[in-house]
Amino acid sequence: MTSTGKAKTRQTPAARQKRVWDKSAPSYDKQIAFFEKIWFAGGREWLGERARGRVLEVAIGTGRNLPCYPADVTITGIELSPAMLAIARQRAAGLGRDVDLREGDAEHLAFDDASFDTVVCALSLCTIPSPVAAVGEMRRVLGPGGRLLLLDHIGSTWPPVYAAQWLVERITIRAAGEHFTRRQLPLVQAAGFQIAETERLKAGTVERIHAVKPA
Ligand SMILES: C[S@@+](CC[C@H](N)C(=O)[O-])C[C@H]1O[C@@H](n2cnc3c(N)ncnc32)[C@H](O)[C@@H]1O
Repeated sequence: MTSTGKAKTRQTPAARQKRVWDKSAPSYDKQIAFFEKIWFAGGREWLGERARGRVLEVAIGTGRNLPCYPADVTITGIELSPAMLAIARQRAAGLGRDVDLREGDAEHLAFDDASFDTVVCALSLCTIPSPVAAVGEMRRVLGPGGRLLLLDHIGSTWPPVYAAQWLVERITIRAAGEHFTRRQLPLVQAAGFQIAETERLKAGTVERIHAVKPA
């Protein structure tokens, strides 16, 4: 026998993420607002200040970066979870911003090559099942000279904190696909981007990356 009942009902990683984030959507804004104050302060503004031209935000969630974008950029956002996306739509309407919001998978972006000037991804490569595939897609849809702007939590430079993160993610990876010791910078370099700026904060647990697709 090659398959069991259990194997037949196993979800794909993307389907699992969708389920997890649909369930978390109603409480997400309240929860992340606390972490934005103590952990990610200034990060969303940092991304927004660097965004130019046609912007794609990957895994836009409830749209918490929307208030930080300059008025003269056009914004497209994709997101796996319809429930998160519904809140992003409300936020865009409340801000009076015309934002093209679509369901989509970061690992298979439904856009032509070189469609965007900037790709933004915040607090999501820690949970996207294949960050390598997602970064590859981000590179594909960026035009030559396009900007990749990332904000995420990563493994600490401080060994006791790293060890605690490693222990916590033994639970969170299984429960929600959430990683605490991933680091995006080597993936961005391996995908062929040039690094323009990086900032590592909070005992090395937060990283901001501004990378450029070579012309
Ligand atoms: C921690 S939330 C971050 C949301 C938002 N980027 C922010 O900064 O608040 C992670 C988001 O990644 C989304 N996500 C996970 N895997 C994805 C994928 N493969 N494609 C698109 N979105 C994905 C989840 O649905 C969730 O909305």
